[in-house]
Amino acid sequence: MNHTIKHISATEAHAVRHPVLRAGKPIESCIFDGDDLNTTFHLGAFIENKLVAVCSFFKCKHPLLPEEFQYQLRGMAVLNEYQNLGLGQLILNHGEVLLRTQNIQIIWCNAREKAIGFYKKMDYTIIGDAFNIEHIGLHYVMYKTL
Ligand SMILES: CC(C)(COP(=O)(O)OP(=O)(O)OC[C@H]1O[C@@H](n2cnc3c(N)ncnc32)[C@H](O)[C@@H]1OP(=O)(O)O)[C@@H](O)C(=O)NCCC(=O)NCCS
Repeated sequence: MNHTIKHISATEAHAVRHPVLRAGKPIESCIFDGDDLNTTFHLGAFIENKLVAVCSFFKCKHPLLPEEFQYQLRGMAVLNEYQNLGLGQLILNHGEVLLRTQNIQIIWCNAREKAIGFYKKMDYTIIGDAFNIEHIGLHYVMYKTL
């Protein structure tokens, strides 16, 4: 598939986060603390100039993980009609490669229960117990050594 992956702004990321991750909720629910920090970056996948997939990377340590240099993946979202075409894998791989060049040791995320299979395919491992995020559902912390 002909695609390009580029750095995008937080506002661009919100436009895909909204229908995929916060459908029916106010756009403000798509704004994450730290979206505009200079240590945060957002990637977008474009097909014919249309932004169809996004993910964001935040400098953030998880208490269950001992490594000093960690990033958190947030807002992993592919527009419904573009899912299962390999774009999620491509965009996340791209971010992981960038983090490796910055000597980041580990990436982690709060994975929705229904996305666990995707992260397992991407070589992420569950750590700790399931927990609930209000209005969204069960999540697991998943991580990958870079
Ligand atoms: C989860 C999501 C990001 C995956 O992106 P995608 O582009 O659809 O996935 P890909 O096509 O890159 O899939 C890569 C591999 O993971 C598998 N996979 C994708 N989604 C999966 C899922 N929900 N469960 C199990 N396996 C899954 C694919 O079958 C593929 O496997 P293969 O390499 O053997 O063919 C995307 O489907 C999405 O945005 N879903 C809704 C929002 C969401 O749940 N986001 C994650 C929040 S934590």
